[in-house]
Amino acid sequence: MNFSDTLLRWYRSNKRDLPWRDSKDPYKIWISEIILQQTRVDQGIPYYFNLIRQFPNIQVLSEASEQSILNVWKGLGYYSRARNIHYTAKYVVQQLNGKFPCTYKSLMDLKGIGPYTAAAIASICYNESVPAIDGNVSRVISRYYGIEDAVSTSVFKRKIQLISEQLISQNAPGDYNQAVMEYGAVICKPLAPKCEICPFYDSCFAFQNNKITILPKKKKQIKKKMRFFNYFHLVLPNNMIVIKKRLKEDIWKNLWELPLVECDKLLDYNELKTISFLNGLHQETVVLKGRKDFIHQLSHQTLNIRIFTINLSNSDFFSEKEYTFVNQDDNSYPFPRIIENFLKTY
Ligand code: ADE
Repeated sequence: MNFSDTLLRWYRSNKRDLPWRDSKDPYKIWISEIILQQTRVDQGIPYYFNLIRQFPNIQVLSEASEQSILNVWKGLGYYSRARNIHYTAKYVVQQLNGKFPCTYKSLMDLKGIGPYTAAAIASICYNESVPAIDGNVSRVISRYYGIEDAVSTSVFKRKIQLISEQLISQNAPGDYNQAVMEYGAVICKPLAPKCEICPFYDSCFAFQNNKITILPKKKKQIKKKMRFFNYFHLVLPNNMIVIKKRLKEDIWKNLWELPLVECDKLLDYNELKTISFLNGLHQETVVLKGRKDFIHQLSHQTLNIRIFTINLSNSDFFSEKEYTFVNQDDNSYPFPRIIENFLKTY
């Protein structure tokens, strides 16, 4: 049996029972694939259930507020993905009469849908033979076929693409795509792959040449940008706090946060006080209660976060429109997870 047939047979008797696997509804497949770009299957399942429960179809999603979508998405990160889902739902409902595009090419025209997602939807829902290539697929193919170029290079990507186009099943492209991904996730794993039970071990380049640990070759580590966020956790009488919506084109756009001073280092309290709206306020009005530091890693940035908890007995000076006063326990505002967790433990 050839590679694809062996893989398909493995998949059909070993596939995980995932909540979207009994469906060919492009809406559900789309949502599940976007979630799975964010997180592992076991962590993604609760998000999938929550999203489908609150927004059971594309019509409902298109009519939802962005804030309600971000609220279900919060914790997954990459919030632009949630905003793109919302944008595309509105586009499909309003411009395409609610009819989801059904070819790889037309799916690619949708915002937030790239080659991987378009191929996953086209193959799973519409039986189109287009390979969906993610990190799992690249790893399986590069090990089995001995692709030794670095994963970040266009040569590597082209080779994986060409091989995948040859391998994909014409009869069951959706199963084939899911089979390779599944194989990468549960057998041909990045660390400690299960070569001892792999049916391909006698023809696997990496296994035969003792290169399992070095393939696929990693891209050079990009140096992450360092950022420094100095936050004010201002607690007013009646347990109210001050929050603000992030509106700029930046991480966490449209999520809420505490008042922030971002600069090139973490500041101590006196420095921060002097350069902020707290400058000049009476000592009894502003009482420092605590300080906490966190480091939060994003894919391309390291956030150094410092949060000062400050009791404010008087907020009259706070006239700026951009700030909002809410009860500390109000959970209707989507915060980045690091801030949400901080507020929960307070
Ligand atoms: N990872 C992303 N999408 C997947 C799918 N449909 N099946 C298995 N693993 C996946």
